[in-house]
Amino acid sequence: MLRRLHADQPDTFAFTPANQAWAEAQITKYPEGRQASAIIPLLWRAQEQTGWLTRAAIEHVSDMLGMAYIRGLEVASFYFMFQLQPVGSVAHIQICGTTSCMICGAEDLVAVCQDKIAKNPHDLSSDGKFSWEEVECLGACANAPMAQIGKDYFEDLTAAKLSDMIDAMAAGEVPVPGPQNGRFAAEPLSGLTSLKDHESGKYQYNASAQLATDIGDSIKRIDGTEVPLLAPWQGKTAPKAKATPKPKAPAKAKTPAIPKATAAPVEATSKAKPAAADKKSATVGKKPRTMKEPRKSGADDLKLIKGVGPKLEKLVNSLGFWHFDQVAKWSGDEVAWVDQNLEGFKGRVSRDDWVAQAKVLASGGETEFSSRAKKK
Ligand code: FES
Repeated sequence: MLRRLHADQPDTFAFTPANQAWAEAQITKYPEGRQASAIIPLLWRAQEQTGWLTRAAIEHVSDMLGMAYIRGLEVASFYFMFQLQPVGSVAHIQICGTTSCMICGAEDLVAVCQDKIAKNPHDLSSDGKFSWEEVECLGACANAPMAQIGKDYFEDLTAAKLSDMIDAMAAGEVPVPGPQNGRFAAEPLSGLTSLKDHESGKYQYNASAQLATDIGDSIKRIDGTEVPLLAPWQGKTAPKAKATPKPKAPAKAKTPAIPKATAAPVEATSKAKPAAADKKSATVGKKPRTMKEPRKSGADDLKLIKGVGPKLEKLVNSLGFWHFDQVAKWSGDEVAWVDQNLEGFKGRVSRDDWVAQAKVLASGGETEFSSRAKKK
């Protein structure tokens, strides 16, 4: 396919202040003289902001990296992930047309796009809300046929399902990513014989779909306010700009529900004021007692709680929690508050029942997970 700059181009491009700060921080990841290595993340951010890559955006990024414009254009025109023409204001739908998906019905999905959006790929729908294209294998063949819409994968599609999803997105909703036929992940049709944890109903979605749902930016333009702009390699956190509203999520897309009974105004229960905790204003639950820093004996390894990784541990620490016995004491209201304040990980405390795990660990015992983690 011929990939060239679109005929109609805006004159200028500028990152939003938050995206500019993010882009400048990305460049610092690379050694002196190797700043050009940041070209793909910066071009991608520009595309996330405007939906497609304009000539002005390519030149702006090239300038930031000290590259000749032609070098920036080479990258933008080589990779199909970069859209060189305007895309739908709501969503650009990429239908996988490679073997597995083709056998399982990709052509029916293309027909839906031709019918509901536009006859030709890359043309905008009459209302300007949608565009589509056929792409090569997206690596989700076990869930064929599938499509990438915005940043997420929607799998196990049927023509009727895709048609409903387009209608839902046009109405301002965001379908939950992942399998669309009730499958949890990529388990075989005959059912699982092992790794059946999710069948207990403990997990609402598989990990990818859950994270996509938590982040909630499947088809949202990114202005830099969606996630904290971190440059941890510099010990920096960038200031958070005013948040923009997230697209309306369907009921199913909500993070694990917090019982209404727990809803209460935020209540500060500690004199300590960890920065991250004070920046946010939880609207549900009750803020647990926090600590300014770990006790002299040192912080507990919260990663021994199943579901807590290094990133989440740092976030929990930043809220003022360092020890198992702190977590073990959280009441239902307090769990609701913490769940609400785990930006990017909302609902994880109740989902993985941290309190029960922490009780065991605080009393010197081991959970099955902590034993395994320690052996590793
Ligand atoms: S063939 Fe469609 S994802 Fe691989």
